[in-house]
Amino acid sequence: MGLRFKNLDISGLNLLIIMTSVVSSDTSPSPTLYKERRPQANNFNLSFSLFSKLPSDRRKMLKSPEEEHPQKSFGWAARDTSGVLSPFKFSRRANGDEDVTLKILYCGICHSDLHTLKNEWDFSFYPVLPGHEIVGVVTEVGKKVTKFKVGDNAGVGCIVGSCRACPSCKQDSENYCPKMIPTYNAIYHDGTPTYGGYSDMIVVAEHFVVHFPDNLPLDAGAPLLCAGITVYSPLKYFGLTEPSLHLGVVGLGGLGHVAVKFAKAFGVKVTVISTSPSKEKEAVERLGADSFLVSRDPKQMEAAMGTMDGIIDTVSATHPLMPLLGLLKSHGKLVMVGLPVQPLELPAIPLVMGRKIVTGSCIGGMKETQEMIDFAAKHNITADIEVIPMDYVNTAMERLVKADVRYRFVIDIANTLKAP
Ligand SMILES: NC(=O)c1ccc[n+]([C@@H]2O[C@H](COP(=O)([O-])OP(=O)(O)OC[C@H]3O[C@@H](n4cnc5c(N)ncnc54)[C@H](OP(=O)(O)O)[C@@H]3O)[C@@H](O)[C@H]2O)c1
Ligand SMILES: [Zn+2]
Ligand SMILES: [Zn+2]
Repeated sequence: MGLRFKNLDISGLNLLIIMTSVVSSDTSPSPTLYKERRPQANNFNLSFSLFSKLPSDRRKMLKSPEEEHPQKSFGWAARDTSGVLSPFKFSRRANGDEDVTLKILYCGICHSDLHTLKNEWDFSFYPVLPGHEIVGVVTEVGKKVTKFKVGDNAGVGCIVGSCRACPSCKQDSENYCPKMIPTYNAIYHDGTPTYGGYSDMIVVAEHFVVHFPDNLPLDAGAPLLCAGITVYSPLKYFGLTEPSLHLGVVGLGGLGHVAVKFAKAFGVKVTVISTSPSKEKEAVERLGADSFLVSRDPKQMEAAMGTMDGIIDTVSATHPLMPLLGLLKSHGKLVMVGLPVQPLELPAIPLVMGRKIVTGSCIGGMKETQEMIDFAAKHNITADIEVIPMDYVNTAMERLVKADVRYRFVIDIANTLKAP
């Protein structure tokens, strides 16, 4: 089989995927067909498709969302790349032997919801019903369920399934399982789409549900299920919890503000690096940061060069890495958790000269998520939230684009989501 790449504008990773599909089977689509099916492929979604075939390829859609399963459900979903959410009727599977059903009370709004609603990563398939910071009350448990009973408060984060057999799963890192199933915009084991927490109820395998400690407020605790674990996990994994260390947190949004709180609970010295001078007072006075740098002020940045042991970068948009590498001491670590759509420029010289490390981290496994939420309860860590009614969600998304939220929107599902 020949490769016909002429006139195709494809990046290295595109090429890798196309070559894989071409060599693996004679019936594989030609590069031209592949290109037509995925017109705006970019590196991020292709790396995603390396470990998980695209949802649209796997989706069976034999029945309408309302008829796929026996339990009627409703929520708000976007139907196209406008990302505008509106009422949506669908269905949930019957509660299986190992399943827990939650009546959803609160759901946080993560910037990943916004990226997905607008198909910014180019792997959304519609309808998209987002939400992976879900807190609810257990209404049904299967007969093999051992950890939950009806009436318990429980949380569901970003994952609702994984293979449970691969090395990552066996090491409690379901988040790195090649077959990890996200809470929304994915395909479940039964071939049907997953729908998230902007909805009245959800059925989830017990393994992917966490206990919600009694002393943690249900609304302000909800964002911990994504924002919390996404920053807690790299702090632990990369050894950034020692009190002698100095940590930078870039971007004071949903993830960033809980990163400050966790790092301070570990006793680490924290500097916030932000584009918003207006956030300085509350970063220091309310969140407990030790200092604050305005990233667009070269003088402030220069004065802080070579002072940090680690940086957690939570920024959702394209931004320069060079100044951040400059802030690190030699051997310092820059951990990317934000997911800008476009690739970032990585200058080699500051990396090489200081033997610095640039790395990434993706949410956390189920065991660590429970550990994080128990740690948060013990240290009174919650998100700073603005509770909103369901019908405010589109305005909330517009404000999130402008970083106009202190610091997480949480939807009051139980009181404001009305049946369509
Ligand atoms: N790795 C993972 O597992 C994981 C999990 C969850 C979310 N995420 C990703 O993490 C990112 C942040 O999520 P979030 O919910 O915390 O978002 P968010 O609440 O919108 O916060 C992002 C912050 O980034 C800063 N920012 C925004 N635009 C910027 C720009 N053009 N240049 C520099 N800074 C800018 C702003 O902080 P300042 O005003 O302080 O500058 C903003 O508050 C998203 O890309 C999301 O998809 C990743
Ligand atoms: Zn998230
Ligand atoms: Zn696995």
